[in-house]
Amino acid sequence: MRVFDDPRAFQAACLNARRTGDLGFVPTMGFLHQGHESLLRLAAGHASSALSIFVNPTQFGPNEDLARYPRDLPGDLAKAERCGIDLVLAPKEAEALYPSDFQTYVELGPLAATLEGALRPGHFRGMATVVLKLLALAQPTHAYFGRKDFQQLAIVRRMARDFDLPVEIVGAPIVREPDGLALSSRNVYLSPDERARALCLWRGQQAALAAVRTGERRAKALELAARVEVEKGADRIDYVAVRDAESLQEIETATPRQAVILFAAFVGKTRLIDNGLLE
Ligand code: PAJ
Repeated sequence: MRVFDDPRAFQAACLNARRTGDLGFVPTMGFLHQGHESLLRLAAGHASSALSIFVNPTQFGPNEDLARYPRDLPGDLAKAERCGIDLVLAPKEAEALYPSDFQTYVELGPLAATLEGALRPGHFRGMATVVLKLLALAQPTHAYFGRKDFQQLAIVRRMARDFDLPVEIVGAPIVREPDGLALSSRNVYLSPDERARALCLWRGQQAALAAVRTGERRAKALELAARVEVEKGADRIDYVAVRDAESLQEIETATPRQAVILFAAFVGKTRLIDNGLLE
C-alpha cells in the first residue's frame, strides 16, 4: 500500500494503475469503521483500489464539528491495508485540495435543496465539490458510497450523470451494530446513556416497516408511527420523512421499494442520520 500526501502524486499513481485494469475508489473523511471497511473491500475487488482520507472543510457549517471531527490516521492506514487497498490519498493540510485562490464549486439542483440540504446550507455544495475533485484525481472506473448517506449518494449519482463522469457510482448497504444502530464516525461522541437512546432511529424505522406490513401506505401515517419511537430517545428531531427513493420529493402514498424513510435527530449534542427503504 502506498500513501500520498500530495494529490498530484496520488493522481499519477492512479492513472498508472488504470493502465492495467479497473480501479475501485472510496472517498472518506477517515476514522474508519466497519461501514467504511465494507466499501474498502468492494473497491479492493478490482485490479487496483484507492482510498481518500480527507476531512473536507467546505462541507461543514460554521457551527458544526469540523474542529473536533475524530481522526486516527495510523489506525485508518492499518485498516486500509487489511482490506487490501493499494493507494491512499491522505493530505495533511486542507490547502492541498483548497489552495488560497480556489474558487470553483459545483452548483446543485432540487435533490440537494431538501432534507439535509435544507438544514445544512452549503453542506452538499462542499461535498459534491470535493467528490468531483477526488474523482478527477483518482479517475476510478468504480466509486463506492454507503446508503447510510442516502441523499449524498443520490446527489453524487446525479452529478456523475449530469457531468458525464466516466465512473460507475456504486451504492452499498448500511452496516449496523448488532442492535441496529448504523455505524458512524460520530458515534464516538455518544455517552453510554446517549448510545442507548440513539437506537430510537432504528426503532422508528422498524415501526414504519411494521405499519407497512399491516398494509399502511399513507406517508403521513408512516412518518407518525416512526416519529413516536424517535421521540422516545431523541432530544431534537430534524426530520422523519417518507420520500420518493429517487427524487427525494414528498409523496402521499408509499409504494413498496419506491419509498424511503429518512431520519435526522440529535441525541445529546450529536446529530445522527439513518434511513431505510420501505419494502
Ligand atoms: P464519511 O462520513 O467518512 O463516509 C464515507 C463513506 O462511508 C460514505 O459513502 C458513507 O455513506 C459510508 N458510510 C458511513 N457509514 C456507513 C455505514 N454504517 N454503512 C455503510 N456505509 C457507510 O461521506 C463522507 O465521508 C463525505 O461526505 C465524503 C463523501 C468523503 C466527501 O467528503
